[in-house]
Amino acid sequence: MNSKETLKTLIEFWDSALKLSQDDKDDIKASMTNDNYLDFAPSKKLADALDNLLTTNKVLDYGCGNAWASLILAKKGAKYVKAVDTSKEGIESAKFILDTYNVSNKVDLEVIDESWLEKQAPNSYDGLICSNVLDVLPLDVSKQIIVNFHNILSKDALLVVGLNFYTDPKVKPLEEGKYIYLDGVLRLLSLSDDEWKGLFEPYFEIVYLDYFAWPGENIERRRLFVLKNK
Ligand SMILES: C[S@@+](CC[C@H](N)C(=O)[O-])C[C@H]1O[C@@H](n2cnc3c(N)ncnc32)[C@H](O)[C@@H]1O
Repeated sequence: MNSKETLKTLIEFWDSALKLSQDDKDDIKASMTNDNYLDFAPSKKLADALDNLLTTNKVLDYGCGNAWASLILAKKGAKYVKAVDTSKEGIESAKFILDTYNVSNKVDLEVIDESWLEKQAPNSYDGLICSNVLDVLPLDVSKQIIVNFHNILSKDALLVVGLNFYTDPKVKPLEEGKYIYLDGVLRLLSLSDDEWKGLFEPYFEIVYLDYFAWPGENIERRRLFVLKNK
């Protein structure tokens, strides 16, 4: 499958994965309280890392999905959040959640295409969160996104990146040594810590690398990079 077909399949996949049913919406509304917004984060460690972005003027949530990170940033007082995703359903779900938590006026949501990032002006953001996006795309696409992040961020701006855990191709066979496809959909770009560092380091200083787990996982193996723009 070429990159264009992979990206088209991904949009269809994420549209169906991120769509909220009426039952989902009813549940979110029924359980909403003023301070349970943190429950949307896939990990407390990842949510806490967002605190690095609270003093920014303009923060970007790239590949926001249901915009859980934007919700937390807005609730915790970030000045301006822009949340973008290629999935129309993702943005619809984000709108519903932000409306429910009364912060839709604080987050600017947009459905984008893959060319959006390179059209943004240099230095237009001073903080960025990108959770679980670079690791579900073809390597050449992720590499270009990293370069574009460098270009749109001001010098010394912080970039918080959440990534899946590493799957060793010696342990589990991977397509081209790095990809997992499920039902024809690219679900994982598996790179080691050093491989990710190698992609970031020409453009970003590594502030720290930590590990986190999703609910139900016993071992913290997912990667959390906090990076400073060069
Ligand atoms: C695994 S989800 C992560 C969503 C969210 N950031 C989170 O942490 O829950 C991957 C997201 O990346 C989005 N995405 C895929 N390709 C993208 C691209 N080229 N540009 C922006 N977003 C993209 C998908 O639509 C989906 O919402």
